[in-house]
Amino acid sequence: MQWKRRHCCTHTAKLLYLLSLLGVLFFLIHQVWLPRLTGMPWSRGHPLVYGGGAAHSTKAKWNTSARHSQWRFVIVPQQTFKADANISSRENQGVYPTQADPNFENVLAANTSQRDDADLSTTIAHRLYPYIINEPDKCADNTAAPFLVLLIATEARQVEARNAIRQTWGNESVAPALGFIRLFLLGKKDGELGLLQQRMLEAESRRHHDIIQQDFLDSYKNLTIKTLMGLNWVAMHCPHTSYVMKTDSDMFVNTEYLIFKLLRPELEPRRNYFTGNNMRGYAPNRNKNSKWYMPPELYPGDKYPTFCSGTGYVFSGDLARKIYQVSLRIRHLHLEDVFVGICLASLGIEPTPPPNEFLFNHWRVSYSSCKYSHLITSHGFHPNELLKYWHHLQSNKRNACINAFKERAGRTHLHRVTGEKSAE
Ligand SMILES: *[C@@H]1O[C@H](CO)[C@@H](O)[C@H](O)[C@H]1NC(C)=O
Ligand SMILES: *[C@@H]1O[C@H](CO)[C@@H](O)[C@H](O)[C@H]1NC(C)=O
Ligand SMILES: *[C@@H]1O[C@H](CO)[C@@H](O)[C@H](O)[C@H]1NC(C)=O
Ligand SMILES: *[C@@H]1O[C@H](CO)[C@@H](O)[C@H](O)[C@H]1NC(C)=O
Ligand SMILES: *[C@@H]1O[C@H](CO)[C@@H](O)[C@H](O)[C@H]1NC(C)=O
Repeated sequence: MQWKRRHCCTHTAKLLYLLSLLGVLFFLIHQVWLPRLTGMPWSRGHPLVYGGGAAHSTKAKWNTSARHSQWRFVIVPQQTFKADANISSRENQGVYPTQADPNFENVLAANTSQRDDADLSTTIAHRLYPYIINEPDKCADNTAAPFLVLLIATEARQVEARNAIRQTWGNESVAPALGFIRLFLLGKKDGELGLLQQRMLEAESRRHHDIIQQDFLDSYKNLTIKTLMGLNWVAMHCPHTSYVMKTDSDMFVNTEYLIFKLLRPELEPRRNYFTGNNMRGYAPNRNKNSKWYMPPELYPGDKYPTFCSGTGYVFSGDLARKIYQVSLRIRHLHLEDVFVGICLASLGIEPTPPPNEFLFNHWRVSYSSCKYSHLITSHGFHPNELLKYWHHLQSNKRNACINAFKERAGRTHLHRVTGEKSAE
């Protein structure tokens, strides 16, 4: 009896001890280490909560959650409008910024109607910032021009996300014969932590050769610069690629579907083609308390031209040069996707609506192998989820939709009602 009780107690004690150890470990992993090393971009708040206007969320949330929310705009009910690309032409005299200023407030707006291609090579060669890390030969290494270049905006600390992407949708063996290039786009972080991250990043770059970085401060408001760096890289070092996709590191991208079902290598590559989640009829947010506030001085127009959500857009290779060139003459806006939309409008190019509205999602679509085998983007993924869903999708490719009918009948309606979309 006595023995039994003691035995039982030591067992309980051991169990408690183990549990507390696990608890401490869990705490350490989640509270201390991960946020620094990986940044946890997936921990973003729901933009719906912060979006509409007033509340300023924490810095971290502003940095990560601010993007891509449709809530930063006011939707203008009427659908027809002419391109607002003209807005800047009236207030300038065709000035070319010799040293384009990152602080968009100071950038001279330029004559957008001017479209001479004569100075083509000089404008492309005009880099906004010097490269710290570059891969100038990545494209030339292939004998033929690649089919698709993936430009993925990321920050130094998001190591895990980059590794997950390398193993999943960014794995160049998704389409080995076609030529498929993956590049992560980065700026530079300040401070001691920035220095440490920089060293790790350089090691990562030596290992994978899929990183390009320029010497600008890596911040949410500099996202436009980051994207322009990617466009400049394509224009300079890979001008003959058939297509380019720009996306983010917390995305699920079904690259296989994108390549074989949407872009289709067997067809002649399109030109002046731009597609994604078309945002049509959005107006600048004029609520001064909103973090998506757009000062009228920066953008006087009352509507944005149609643009595609920065979570993922795809365009023909020829546009990299055209957009980059025209971007040098347009006042930089910090809203990267809007800015690219303005560049397109001033080129007279209207984004093509995707074949169906479920392909490019800038919110998170609840996972099912059936849905994910028929979409291109879904937003808001932890690297572990990416790995999990990707592998599930790969192993269920053939019968992805066997249960789909049942699923659809049960779920679609429900999700509409509960606002799956609002989870962005
Ligand atoms: C983003 O966060 C960093 C540090 O967390 C801060 O220095 C920077 O100003 C923030 N950027 C913006 C645009 O708020
Ligand atoms: C641009 O502005 C000029 C004059 O300001 C106008 O004549 C022209 O129609 C405008 N173009 C577009 C595309 O709005
Ligand atoms: C803009 O450029 C065009 C073409 O070079 C020129 O004809 C026009 O006068 C310029 N407009 C302004 C406002 O500088
Ligand atoms: C990419 O996919 C191939 C084939 O599925 C696999 O062998 C390779 O390990 C993957 N690469 C990475 C970085 O996971
Ligand atoms: C963008 O990067 C430039 C160059 O590093 C820096 O001077 C500027 O402050 C950055 N802008 C923002 C809003 O972070």
